[in-house]
Amino acid sequence: MTVNLEGRVAIVTGAGGGLGREHALLLARLGAKVVVNDPGGSVAGTGDDRRVAQMVVDEIRAAGGEAVANLDSVAEFSAAQRIVQTAMDTYGRLDILVNNAGILRDKTFAKMEVEDFELVLKVHLMGTVYCTKAAWPIMNEQGYGRIVLTTSAAGIVGGFGQSNYGAAKMGTLGLMNCLALEGARNGVLVNAISPAAATRMTQALIPPQIGQHLRPDLVSPAVAWLASEACTQSGLVVNAVAGYFACQRFVEGEGVQFNPTEPVTADMVADAAKSFGQMNNARAVDPRPLGDLEARLQALGLS
Ligand code: NAI
Repeated sequence: MTVNLEGRVAIVTGAGGGLGREHALLLARLGAKVVVNDPGGSVAGTGDDRRVAQMVVDEIRAAGGEAVANLDSVAEFSAAQRIVQTAMDTYGRLDILVNNAGILRDKTFAKMEVEDFELVLKVHLMGTVYCTKAAWPIMNEQGYGRIVLTTSAAGIVGGFGQSNYGAAKMGTLGLMNCLALEGARNGVLVNAISPAAATRMTQALIPPQIGQHLRPDLVSPAVAWLASEACTQSGLVVNAVAGYFACQRFVEGEGVQFNPTEPVTADMVADAAKSFGQMNNARAVDPRPLGDLEARLQALGLS
């Protein structure tokens, strides 16, 4: 299967460095015209550096690609609208949105200021909402779109001192799951990557002997696939790390079904939890709102 992005227009947020830069470079190499968004600034989201986005644009152009810089922050809706408008004004269309921008304000929950919680939600979760909201009508009206979100293991399995970040990153998956349903009829697919890479965000956490294999450019091929026509699925979470790619999803362990016409006590649940708390025979969560409830009720002669 060939991933070809000729004629496509992409936005990559937070593309001035780290993973976003690699995503932008690869999308451009595959033929996309790219809006390189990044106001610059520290990992904590302080300050700005108005050169970083332009430097990536220069790199893309030097390699024969097409790109334009945008310095707006994803953390305000009006600014996110300007990012999308940059694509429309410069290239006249928008096919791909890669929500990548991010910051960290790590602290244990006990020590974390509410402001640090809110800011991280604002950049990761609301930034994704704002950019996606601005791109949504354009993609739905043209009947084609590929949106890639960036989640994290810090949300999927938890990260010490990362309650703000973990909450924000899991929030993006709730958004994805709902938008995957809403966008499907118009050819707008919404997927996520859960990356790991040695960038300035993670450099203090990764041992050097492993860090050499955690190159951010090894994550970008997953983004490029999800951003392309070659991808026809929606609602995937692709774990991408050091050349490894796998899908992740919620599972449900074997449950216990009490008779709902009889009393169910806390003691009964506590006893049953010795078994259902083990997550034995786990399988993917049933996508139907009530799962296989009807079959279970039938088995009890109740339906
Ligand atoms: P990075 O710090 O190198 O890159 C983040 C970029 O986002 C920076 O260039 C920064 O200027 C930009 N940015 C920050 N606030 C912004 C805003 N309000 N508007 C627009 N741009 C903004 O970090 P890295 O590692 O490249 O992270 C990229 C994404 O991947 C983030 O969403 C991060 O949470 C996620 N991620 C990274 C992992 C890793 O192992 N590096 C693991 C899991 C998720």
